[in-house]
Amino acid sequence: MKNQQVLLAARPRGPVELKHFRFVEAPIPAAADGEFVVRAHYLSLDPYMRGRMDDAKSYARKAEVGEVMVGTAVGEVVESRHEKFKVGDFVETRTGWQLYGRSDGGGVRKIDPAYVPLSAYLGAVGMPGVTAWIGLNEHGRSKPGETVVVSAASGAVGSVAGQLAKLQGCRVVGVAGGNAKCDYVVNELKFDACIDYKAGNLEAALAAACPQGVDVYFDNVGGPVLDAVLTQMNAFSRIALCGQISGYNNPDALTVRNFRSFLVNRIQLRGFICSDHMDLWRPALKELGMLVHEGKLKYRESIAQGLENAPAAFIGLLNGQNFGKQLVKLI
Ligand SMILES: NC(=O)c1ccc[n+]([C@@H]2O[C@H](COP(=O)([O-])OP(=O)(O)OC[C@H]3O[C@@H](n4cnc5c(N)ncnc54)[C@H](OP(=O)(O)O)[C@@H]3O)[C@@H](O)[C@H]2O)c1
Repeated sequence: MKNQQVLLAARPRGPVELKHFRFVEAPIPAAADGEFVVRAHYLSLDPYMRGRMDDAKSYARKAEVGEVMVGTAVGEVVESRHEKFKVGDFVETRTGWQLYGRSDGGGVRKIDPAYVPLSAYLGAVGMPGVTAWIGLNEHGRSKPGETVVVSAASGAVGSVAGQLAKLQGCRVVGVAGGNAKCDYVVNELKFDACIDYKAGNLEAALAAACPQGVDVYFDNVGGPVLDAVLTQMNAFSRIALCGQISGYNNPDALTVRNFRSFLVNRIQLRGFICSDHMDLWRPALKELGMLVHEGKLKYRESIAQGLENAPAAFIGLLNGQNFGKQLVKLI
């Protein structure tokens, strides 16, 4: 038995390619005093990982060339010399893109796969769900009856943000790429409407779907979608700026023409990072876990099989090939 790892092989300039990763085998780590070893079952692939590959100032430490790619996994403790974690415990841990990782327990969350499925702790009941909860409640501050637009609406964060806004009694309009994703957003997630931004005429489609204008925009993508939504924003509306995935491979794509809307409509825009609000994780996770457990919050997953397929799945995520939370199954 060997460990498998994916290392950052080189920093991309522009689009990420397979050559930027290296797949290696290594010995399975052993736990030192105060540590335990986790066998990962699922690895989460997330857009933020693109930023970690760059040598640029950011809110978090970059990944180093030659090191295991950063990332979060859920799995089972298989060896322990830690008093609070025992063999057989299930945990969510930042062990990165590998099968086995060592931990001293810092930042590790114990999870219960009998309550919600194990993989959900990386999606709706994990960081993406918490991000949606914080963005909507703290920054969007949506109220019943208001119109909320959510981009990347079928994705890990967007699907939760839109469903939470629906539960609050808002009119919710999604924006997603293609008919299949839009059908899912309306028919399964029960958004009031969903617009395919790849079909053209985005401004006109938004105006038709939001007859009362837009009170809250939960922005996951930036770029041309943000530009179009700006034309429909109401006076004193809010934008929760969560992500800018349309520009992660190409920052030039983030140009905004309709900037004047901020002034004319006195829009409040707030960029936020989920880790700014660690005090809110506990209440957010409690609510999200309950909603998933009771079947009131739905989610969908794209699952790549085997660690060796993680780089291709990550490249696909940055190009919209995932449909729901992107995971890699490791066991
Ligand atoms: N601020 C925070 O703390 C925080 C935390 C987590 C995530 N985020 C951000 O939230 C966003 C969504 O993350 P996620 O994990 O939920 O990913 P996701 O939505 O599950 O997957 C990414 C989706 O982005 C869309 N996309 C890709 N390229 C695009 C483009 N050029 N224009 C428009 N849409 C594009 C694709 O959906 P379509 O096919 O529908 O285009 C793709 O499926 C990302 O921007 C991420 O960086 C922020």
